[in-house]
Amino acid sequence: MRYEEVGPGTGCPASGAPVRTLPRNDPRQYDDLADEWWDPDGAFAMLHWLAEARAALVPSATRPGAVLVDLGCGAGLLAPRVAGKGYRHVGVDLVRSALRQAAAHGVQPINADAAAVPLADHCADVVAAGELLEHVPDWPEVVAEAARVLRPGGTLVLDTLNATALSRLLAVRVAERLPGVPRGIHDPRLFVDSRALVRECARHGIHLRVRGVRPGSWSVVRWLVGRAVGRVRPGPGLRDSGPERYPPRIVPTWSAAVLYQGWGTKER
Ligand SMILES: C[S@@+](CC[C@H](N)C(=O)[O-])C[C@H]1O[C@@H](n2cnc3c(N)ncnc32)[C@H](O)[C@@H]1O
Repeated sequence: MRYEEVGPGTGCPASGAPVRTLPRNDPRQYDDLADEWWDPDGAFAMLHWLAEARAALVPSATRPGAVLVDLGCGAGLLAPRVAGKGYRHVGVDLVRSALRQAAAHGVQPINADAAAVPLADHCADVVAAGELLEHVPDWPEVVAEAARVLRPGGTLVLDTLNATALSRLLAVRVAERLPGVPRGIHDPRLFVDSRALVRECARHGIHLRVRGVRPGSWSVVRWLVGRAVGRVRPGPGLRDSGPERYPPRIVPTWSAAVLYQGWGTKER
C-alpha cells in the first residue's frame, strides 16, 4: 500500500499524518475517516444533514416489530433521527469500522454487500439507502435487493447523486477542493441517472417519486460562520450527543440534476 503526506483541506487528519492513497470510491477510505463519522462539523457533516432529511421521509411504524433495513448504513447517522418511529434498525455495510459505530448507536449490524443482503424476502417495512447507490458498481442490483427485502406496502427512501455533468462538476471537481471535504470518496462514473432509477424501481413494483434537494444557503452560511467562530447550538435529535450547533437544513430545489431524494411504496 502506498502512503503519502497530505495537508489541510483534504478531509484527512490535518496533522500531516500518513494517509493511504486509495482508488476513488475504495471503501477502505471509510476506515481512514472513521473518526469523522459522528463529528457534525467534520468530513461527513453533510451526511448528518442528509440523514435528517431522509428521516423525515420515513413514516412511523404501523405494527409492532417493524424493521427498517438501512443499506450502506455507515456509522448509523440515521439512527437518532428515526429512533422514535418504532423500528428495529438493521444496518448493512461493507465496512466493519463503520458498523461498530452504528451498533453503538442502536443499529443491528450486518457486514455484507448491499447487492447480496443476507436477509429474508419481504422482511423490511422500510428500506433506506442513503448516499449509497452512487458508491456501488451495479446500482440496479442494489435496487433489486432493496425491493426483495421490502414487504408489499413498505417504503423505500433514498438519496443519491445524479449522473449529470453538473453533478460531476459540483460533487467532485468543486466539492473536493473545499476545506474538510474528503478527496476521492466519489467516483463520478458511478453516479445514478434519476430517470433510470425511477424506471428500475417501477420494474420492481416501487413507484418512486424524486425531488432535487440542496443545503439551504443561509443555513450553510450560518453553519460555516458558527464553525469558524466555534459558536454552536443544538440541532433536532442531537441535543444529547454533542456540542451545541446549528445544522444546515436540506431543502427541496427545482432541479434534481445534482443531489436528489427518492421515496415510494412497494405496490406488489
Ligand atoms: C456515503 S456513505 C453513507 C453512509 C450512510 N448511509 C449515511 O448516509 O450516513 C456510503 C456507505 O456505503 C457503504 N457501502 C459502499 N458500498 C457498499 C456496498 N456494496 N454494500 C454495502 N455498503 C456499501 C460504505 O461503506 C459507506 O458506509
